[in-house]
Amino acid sequence: MDSILVNGGTPLCGAVKIQGSKNAALPIMAASLLTKDCNFLENCPRITDVYRMIEILESIGCKAIWKEDGLYLDSSGVYSGAIPDGYSEGMRSSIFLLGALLGAVGEVSMSGIGGCVIGNRKIDYHVMGLTRMGATISYQEDRIQATAAMLCGTAIQLPGPSVGATENLVLAAVLAKGETLIQGAAAEPEIVALCQYLSRCGARITGAGSDCIRVEGVKALRGVRYTIPPDRIVAGTYLFATIATGGNVFLQKAPWRELYEPLAVAERMGAVWNCCEEGIYIQGPERPKAVGELITGVYPRFPTDLQSAALVASCVATGQTIIREKIFENRFRIVPQLRKLGANIRDIDEESVEIQGIEQLQGAEVEAMELRGGAALVLAGLCAKGSTLVQHTAFLYRGYENICRDLRDLGARVASV
Ligand code: EPU
Repeated sequence: MDSILVNGGTPLCGAVKIQGSKNAALPIMAASLLTKDCNFLENCPRITDVYRMIEILESIGCKAIWKEDGLYLDSSGVYSGAIPDGYSEGMRSSIFLLGALLGAVGEVSMSGIGGCVIGNRKIDYHVMGLTRMGATISYQEDRIQATAAMLCGTAIQLPGPSVGATENLVLAAVLAKGETLIQGAAAEPEIVALCQYLSRCGARITGAGSDCIRVEGVKALRGVRYTIPPDRIVAGTYLFATIATGGNVFLQKAPWRELYEPLAVAERMGAVWNCCEEGIYIQGPERPKAVGELITGVYPRFPTDLQSAALVASCVATGQTIIREKIFENRFRIVPQLRKLGANIRDIDEESVEIQGIEQLQGAEVEAMELRGGAALVLAGLCAKGSTLVQHTAFLYRGYENICRDLRDLGARVASV
């Protein structure tokens, strides 16, 4: 069951409930280590990245139990910061354990953090910030090792607004001695969620959501019940699916305040939307209009994680679009796959492509290579004539609980095969 078969041509129609946020849940799961206590994460998404993070946490003494409405995590038995081989490899989010375990037990050792297919994904900002706080970090073959007898607050200027580095430094700072000032911080909503969770646990944090976060270290944190917010990227994926298929959908619980730019792009594509506390109503145009130029950026600008979905809508738009990817260098791996469906896309340079919209894509066999690009290929199948087989779809379950179920609920003809 590693492929998704899509029979295209049906506009999406109906309502879909947006799942909990992957990128909020993963750092919060790591943060729960700092409480050495029981936590309950309501609305935690059931996705493979979360399952892998559970395995990592269990490997160092955490207990995890799924309940109907969320995930129970008990970190009172954590005995070590040494994550055995075979757990952290290949999952970029294991990087959060660097800050969390340094804060919780003063040492970390794990293997396999590094690049991934969407780009280089360096960790130099993480290492620089943690070192400034007093950690000693070294590499032995494939393992990274970090120790800190005592982490001390200090002023850290991030060279660029990195989501993960900001989160890692917050994780290290909440139990550090004194005050940490993170300047040049990223402002993504998932950072705000992490700080909100930690504040409920007793941390003292101000400035989350701005480029300057101040953390005053406290002696201990307590476990809490916390609701993981809805996933803005999943909501945005279904938003562009609705536009690409000319559908009419209610995105229940969609965090519209966090989707300002994607909604502005949706409007430029000719969609009509209406936001309320319960979510977003979206009416796609008969055929999307090309938006001219779309540039990804750090929050609140257009998210890189929705670039592939917007690219697909642009493939069937009336006119020409230029998309510039400013965050990750390998986000255009989807382009040769879209060409198999008949998309008219020209490479401009390494970070830009030009799309000449065509009336309809044609079904074909394509290959998913990463999470967001893979989801976008399913979207492409939805607006293609005939059937599209998207292979290697295991990537999609890293971030989407059940994309086939969600799209079927909206009338699409999709199945895991
Ligand atoms: N960067 C460095 N050095 C560092 C850290 C980052 O040069 O030490 C650079 C990166 O190479 C990149 C830019 O800074 O060019 C931004 O990277 P960032 O650190 O913000 O990304 P991240 O924390 O690794 C998170 C999300 C990604 C999302 C990006 C950008 C999580 C678990 N991951 O990654 O989500 O694309 O922020 O918003 O929160 C996804 O969900 O599919 C996904 C990839």
